[in-house]
Amino acid sequence: MSLSARLVRLIQADGPMTVEAFMRLCLHDPEFGYYATRPALGADGDFITAPMVSQMFGELIGLWAIDTWTRLGQPAPFRLVEMGPGDGTLMADLLKAARVIPTFRACAEVWLVETSAPLMAQQRERLADQGVRWAGALAEVPGGAPMILIANELLDCLPARQFVRTERGWAERRVGLDADGALTFGLAPAPEGFRPPAGLTGIEPGALIEVSPAQEALGTEVGARIAQDGGGALFIDYGRDSPEPGDTLQALKAHQKVDRLATAGEADLTVHADFPAFAAAARAAGAATTHIIGQGDFLRALGIDLRAQALAKARPDQARIIARQHHRLTAPEEMGALFKVVCIYAPDLAPAGFEG
Ligand SMILES: C[S@@+](CC[C@H](N)C(=O)[O-])C[C@H]1O[C@@H](n2cnc3c(N)ncnc32)[C@H](O)[C@@H]1O
Repeated sequence: MSLSARLVRLIQADGPMTVEAFMRLCLHDPEFGYYATRPALGADGDFITAPMVSQMFGELIGLWAIDTWTRLGQPAPFRLVEMGPGDGTLMADLLKAARVIPTFRACAEVWLVETSAPLMAQQRERLADQGVRWAGALAEVPGGAPMILIANELLDCLPARQFVRTERGWAERRVGLDADGALTFGLAPAPEGFRPPAGLTGIEPGALIEVSPAQEALGTEVGARIAQDGGGALFIDYGRDSPEPGDTLQALKAHQKVDRLATAGEADLTVHADFPAFAAAARAAGAATTHIIGQGDFLRALGIDLRAQALAKARPDQARIIARQHHRLTAPEEMGALFKVVCIYAPDLAPAGFEG
């Protein structure tokens, strides 16, 4: 049986499902979900991420982690956690950059939080002999010590619900079946008491908004953890920095946008990170949060221009490639503006990169 056939059976039995339930099954179903069966990252796969664009990304995040550890008073031990580490490239480049400060590495207990067995296997290969530990959820990483957490492109694969403003009020988008038995989008009344996120104004009939309970729950969990144990948590993702309407559900296969309903379990399925709601949840749990800034501004504040110059000087034959990678990571029309960064931190820490 395929995931599509399973979805059809589920809908026949229980009725149309929320977009949130659809996303969860497409991505995380243990038997058929994309991340459980066929995650394909990289140039030959379905999508490429910033650490794969250039080693500069992981190196600069490594320097950010060292700087954060220094601002925290060089705690020993501390937990260095990456959530959703993909093929392990970011952590590998981070640890390579961190070799300049051996005490940082000696004090770091490194944890990778991963739900995908195939990706965990790739991480084990790339990070063999690095003394890294794995957990299936952040809650499994022991508390009681400050935490420096990194997560790149994790929020976008946490599922969201979609609501549509109609002439008669709010409705929730659901995935049901058309007359031929194929998956299709439809609408059902929104749950009693549904309220759109605060700060959304001028919503006209036809507008669609997204709400991600899973992203907010992670904001709460990380905020509470940081408030309790201290530290800083850096989240980088494509998403919005203020509440706004828009259907951002997207399926990607072999770097192309594909039909969201026809490729269940076969494509990466994402929504934009809802940074305002995520950060608000972390603050409500007792942590502080920085401004939400563009990836380009963040990487420039960490010194990507100088790093690119140094790399090009060391390898003049690679200078054009390095310039292209720098452009891809920082230019507003590439990843520099759509991708955003926020840090959740304990109020006694002022994290680097957000001063501007
Ligand atoms: C889009 S990939 C990003 C990979 C990597 N951070 C990078 O930048 O290349 C998403 C990653 O998050 C993982 N993931 C998805 N849901 C997760 C969850 N609930 N907890 C931890 N990891 C999760 C996926 O298996 C994958 O490793």
